Amino acid sequence: MRELQETILYIAYNLANQNQVITIEAIQQQLEWMLIKDLEIGREMFWLTENGFLIMSSNKEFSLSDFGKREAFRINKVRIREDFTRLMNSATNSTAYLDYCEEIYGYRMYLFNMMDKEQLDYLFSAVAISSNDTILDLGCGIGSILNTLVNKYACQGIGIDQLNEPLVRRYSDKIAYIDGDLDELADYHISPTITLAVDSLYFSSDLDRLVRRLKSFPNNRWYLYYSQYIFKKSQKDESLLESDNTRLAAVLRRNEITYRAVDYSTNERTLYENALQILPKYREVLADEGNSHLYETKMRENRSGQEMYDKGLASRYLYIVE
Ligand SMILES: C[S@@+](CC[C@H](N)C(=O)[O-])C[C@H]1O[C@@H](n2cnc3c(N)ncnc32)[C@H](O)[C@@H]1O
Repeated sequence: MRELQETILYIAYNLANQNQVITIEAIQQQLEWMLIKDLEIGREMFWLTENGFLIMSSNKEFSLSDFGKREAFRINKVRIREDFTRLMNSATNSTAYLDYCEEIYGYRMYLFNMMDKEQLDYLFSAVAISSNDTILDLGCGIGSILNTLVNKYACQGIGIDQLNEPLVRRYSDKIAYIDGDLDELADYHISPTITLAVDSLYFSSDLDRLVRRLKSFPNNRWYLYYSQYIFKKSQKDESLLESDNTRLAAVLRRNEITYRAVDYSTNERTLYENALQILPKYREVLADEGNSHLYETKMRENRSGQEMYDKGLASRYLYIVE
């Protein structure tokens, strides 16, 4: 299979995983965000259909066949791991990125999320945490948030991510890192009393199973930061953006989890706007560091995020289960 065909399957898998419709338009849009432009993808979609990866319905919508799903799942796992490893590797070697984080997030730490200072302050100071707690951070990234909380409250911490261990920072021996998969929680013998997920649940291939697993931990409080986007303009169902209708809320409700949602949509929108103002200041210095790719990736991410809010296609919530 050619690289572009793999990329299309990767996008199709993520659209399906987010309950979005797979169309040529939706795939084209995401390819543009990935800076893959001027491509005639109709031919590739035809090839993927002919070869049994995709099924086309009469209204030009596609779905993944069982075979396509298996192949797309495999591609997805490899790509996500490679993409985040590359991003975090270059970012954590960049002083300019750390300066940018300080300006944008209000804290001098490496972050890869949509948390503005108000959201971080809530997590760092308003959530009741004691030294008896064990915090599980799902998709912890390089561990900035987990380190901050463990240092502040002298509690235990467990980070799970797919990054190679040397990338993840542990400033305390109270933190354990599992190089694993958030979809395989049942394999790890852990008993958290607090679970965090900061912009990581999008990457679960089985959110229902993950939520059931979290539910099985006794006395576990959850803090899940989650943005909902709608990728297909013409089929805009705005109700998906409401706090009780996001993909995550639907899974919580299906599993009879009572939650409280805090609306951070305005915060996220402002964060995108601020990032687009601030990041260009770092363009040259990032280029001098050899990090032009990082600059382009972050600009693209911020532009597409702002575009989603401008079109009324995005929202963000913190789901609290206590
Ligand atoms: C948007 S980043 C957020 C990182 C971190 N929570 C933060 O706030 O800076 C998403 C993280 O999820 C991790 N991730 C993606 N898929 C995963 C999986 N299947 N299992 C574990 N971690 C995963 C990525 O490696 C990445 O570190």
